[in-house]
Amino acid sequence: MKTVIALHTGTGNSLYIAKQIPDAEIHFVEEFLSGGYALPDDTERLGIIFPVYCWGLPYPVRRFVREYLGNRDNSALGYVFALATCGAFPLYTLHDLSAELSDIGIALSYGESFRLPDAYLPLQKKAVSEEDTKKQCNAIAAKLDRVLHDIETESIRIPRRGPGWRIVRAMSKAAMKPRKNDKLSVGSKCTACGICASVCPMENIKIEEGKPSFGDECISCFACYHRCPENAIDYKGATGQYKGLVSTKELMR
Ligand SMILES: Cc1cc2nc3c(=O)[nH]c(=O)nc-3n(C[C@H](O)[C@H](O)[C@H](O)COP(=O)(O)O)c2cc1C
Ligand code: SF4
Ligand code: SF4
Repeated sequence: MKTVIALHTGTGNSLYIAKQIPDAEIHFVEEFLSGGYALPDDTERLGIIFPVYCWGLPYPVRRFVREYLGNRDNSALGYVFALATCGAFPLYTLHDLSAELSDIGIALSYGESFRLPDAYLPLQKKAVSEEDTKKQCNAIAAKLDRVLHDIETESIRIPRRGPGWRIVRAMSKAAMKPRKNDKLSVGSKCTACGICASVCPMENIKIEEGKPSFGDECISCFACYHRCPENAIDYKGATGQYKGLVSTKELMR
């Protein structure tokens, strides 16, 4: 049975997980939202794969559920699963998605999360080394095998929720709203190659007068910072980039 994956990723961890699903067709959530890809009417199995942002959903994933799925007939969808990647733990993020889906009449059948390197610059000032990246990948290998088997056999695993989940959800939504990020700047090493603009999931970077310029819709994923081939983007003096688990080319929209 064909599986379609709706993917959001900044630094590539979630794409790495998506690529492990056999025979899956992977599309960025932005492709659905821009009309570049439409979920075939007879799609029976949908996977939603994304990073945990502030213990909740990234803004583009909320939009995908409300504005894309919420405006189509989903009656053919039989099995909807979600895989979240995080740097520490997801708290109620999977339940957050389950609640968003429930609002538009879709039942989430299965949810799991994976801990992978965290390159969120406000908290992680050091570069993530290749060795640490490999270690964290090895650490999730057994869980990944189990989850792939669960999905293949269409197991049910309902994401848990706990006390205060509504408050956490409201705080996450407010904190993760797109906004201007004044702390990002571009230095003299920039060659105007445009890669930062191409990996930005929010189309928040335009190359103007031979230099990237940042708009008001940043979600602080830091894909631009980590994937700049010249390390020309500055964020409050942070050093070291996370080169991740997939190539930069695979992240280019
Ligand atoms: C804006 C932002 C917020 C984050 N918030 C959390 C969090 O609340 N909990 C957590 O465990 N990891 C958090 N992380 C770490 C990411 O979830 C983790 O690195 C994820 O694997 C990144 O996925 P990606 O490479 O597909 O973008 C956050 C990262 C970013 C960029
Ligand atoms: S990726 Fe780096 S070098 Fe290329 S345009 Fe962006 S800032 Fe400049
Ligand atoms: S400007 Fe950079 S940090 Fe902000 S959303 Fe785009 S890629 Fe992510």
